[in-house]
Amino acid sequence: MRLYQGKDYDDLSKKAAQIVASEIFMHPKAVLGLATGSSPEGIYRYLVKAQQEGTVDFSDVTSVNLDEYKGMFPDNEQSYHYFMEENLFQHVPFKASYLPNAVEENEEKSCREYDELIESLGGIDMQILGIGANGHIGFNEPGEVFERGTHCVTLAESTRQANSRFFDSIDDVPTHAFSMGIGTILSAKRIVLVVSGENKAQALYDAFYGPITPKVPASALQLHGHVAVFADKDALSVIKEKGLL
Ligand code: GLP
Repeated sequence: MRLYQGKDYDDLSKKAAQIVASEIFMHPKAVLGLATGSSPEGIYRYLVKAQQEGTVDFSDVTSVNLDEYKGMFPDNEQSYHYFMEENLFQHVPFKASYLPNAVEENEEKSCREYDELIESLGGIDMQILGIGANGHIGFNEPGEVFERGTHCVTLAESTRQANSRFFDSIDDVPTHAFSMGIGTILSAKRIVLVVSGENKAQALYDAFYGPITPKVPASALQLHGHVAVFADKDALSVIKEKGLL
């Protein structure tokens, strides 16, 4: 992995956004894999700015998102559809944008169709990722196997707890979600991982310096040749403590 140490969250977001903008400049028809959560918000702010300044042309760019809460309709304010609309899509005119269909009753059909869609687009050129404090990427929770394609997951209690900050109460946080698989994430040509804050420091260490295991889903990123990690001081604290940086 290639590491970019940011002075702070804003700095690392700016650097990461520059990489994404360069990808679009080099490949105007790029397929971008997008993520939700606090981690990529800064990148989206800088991409919106670039759009407003006319320095990046998104009109031929397609996006596919990592995940969505099961059963949530796009107009639900807690849905990832809504988050993407608010933070990016309403400001940046992509050619087309997709998220998993989380309201399809037939889970298997929904998953198959999302995988087929990604395949029909020719795969992902650049995937933006955050990481959960338990090492999850997308909604690939710690488990016994690395899931290859889109699947429906039972969310870990720690993930529901962490995400409850966006809900009135933990009881409102969905128990299930649809997520792109680790296999699909690894088939992206380039990966941009944004990690900020001390609560992610252990996960970041485990992901890149621990064993490759589905118990730490992000550790699968060690198998990828083009991962750029954008991290701040706090997120790097465990790696530094161990004298690895
Ligand atoms: C969420 C999302 C992930 C995200 C992660 C970290 O549950 N499903 O895609 O990367 O958890 O979120 P945050 O960036 O808000 O810390």
